[in-house]
Amino acid sequence: MTGPAPVSTADPLVERFRAMWAQLAGIGRDPGTGGYLRYAWSAAELTCREWFTAEARRRGLAVRPDGNGNLWADWIPSGVDPTSPAVVTGSHFDSVPHGGGYDGPLGIVSALLAVDELRERGFTPARPVTVAAFVEEEGGRFGLACLGSRLLTGGVSAQYALALTDSDGVTVAEAMQAAGADPAAAGPDPDRLARVGVFVELHVEQGRALVDLGAPVGVASMIWPHGRWRLEFTGAGDHAGTTRMVDRRDPMLTCAHTVLAADAQARRLGAHATIGRVAVRPNATNAIPAQVHAWLDARAADDTALTTLVEAVGAEAAARAQADGTSVAVVRESDSPPVAFDPDLTDRIATAVGAQLTGAVPVLPTAAGHDAGVLAGHVPTAMIFVRNPTGVSHAPTEHATDDDCATGVRALAAALADLAGR
Ligand code: GLV
Ligand code: MN
Ligand code: MN
Repeated sequence: MTGPAPVSTADPLVERFRAMWAQLAGIGRDPGTGGYLRYAWSAAELTCREWFTAEARRRGLAVRPDGNGNLWADWIPSGVDPTSPAVVTGSHFDSVPHGGGYDGPLGIVSALLAVDELRERGFTPARPVTVAAFVEEEGGRFGLACLGSRLLTGGVSAQYALALTDSDGVTVAEAMQAAGADPAAAGPDPDRLARVGVFVELHVEQGRALVDLGAPVGVASMIWPHGRWRLEFTGAGDHAGTTRMVDRRDPMLTCAHTVLAADAQARRLGAHATIGRVAVRPNATNAIPAQVHAWLDARAADDTALTTLVEAVGAEAAARAQADGTSVAVVRESDSPPVAFDPDLTDRIATAVGAQLTGAVPVLPTAAGHDAGVLAGHVPTAMIFVRNPTGVSHAPTEHATDDDCATGVRALAAALADLAGR
């Protein structure tokens, strides 16, 4: 005898999230590492952007790129002044090399689903609601993080940005041209910026605070100041077999000492320092290197600690270089000052989300950079974080559960409804 058909208890939003997430899952994924290679302006990132354009148009949103390659999908109901400042939400598609799938795309997928949620509820915004996809947030290809939002806001000049090169020597201008974008249009866009009334970025949490607090979503209070420095160690290339140890001028030794010094100084100061990328010339097993470049990523709770950290690392590198007969130059590649998100906006979003969904919403600082951090210097800005069960990010195991992602969509919809309501 067969019983009654099982009643499905599946949350339809979880199902919708899963279906949409599956459309992106294979794009730019390295089958070897399971991580993503979605560099700015690469075929994989362009495929994600085409997907975004199609999904936005399917919803009747008007999609436009700005001169910097950022995409803007506007929901402007009839009767709403299209030039009035919008409630903007979104994130980025590009990844760090072999990064996770959630950092960036979760904010864009959640934004499109939040628009669907609002429409299903019959909500009509009183001002434009815009979904944005920013270009080269990670700086994974051209080295400068948040390139699209910095260009938009004038935080970097077009002349400087267009000349940045990737590891193959391709410039930003060439990459834009190859993708059919006109580099001559790059630069500050005060008109678009004036139409951003408020910006809310939803992002996977890059840490474990929400797991420990038992909360599916939180909001951001601030971003630690951080930056990137290129350490250029120069020595004397020579034969690995015949050069006596006393005669060597090996920049790898200076670099190795500096890696350990950065770790020790960061621990001493309660800061974070990472050297996760090196380039060695000639990069041969049987040759003493002539040159090593190493990239220092340094972050701290305040500017003073960050400056102290970077100066201490530079001083240790210089002292060691003298002992090794090498030299070191420290070149700053990017600078992200501390960000305090708008406290009124953050409170307002935490209240709107908490009232509808989860009760008290934790407010967390973060040491990760975001386009929201750049926008915060120009418009009221806030961030919503979605719980990450392991806390791992910038690695293939980065994750959020489908249930938490659906809660994130509802949280974002609550925030957008509150901000765009009548
Ligand atoms: C971006 O995610 C960064 O914090 O480097
Ligand atoms: Mn990231
Ligand atoms: Mn991100």
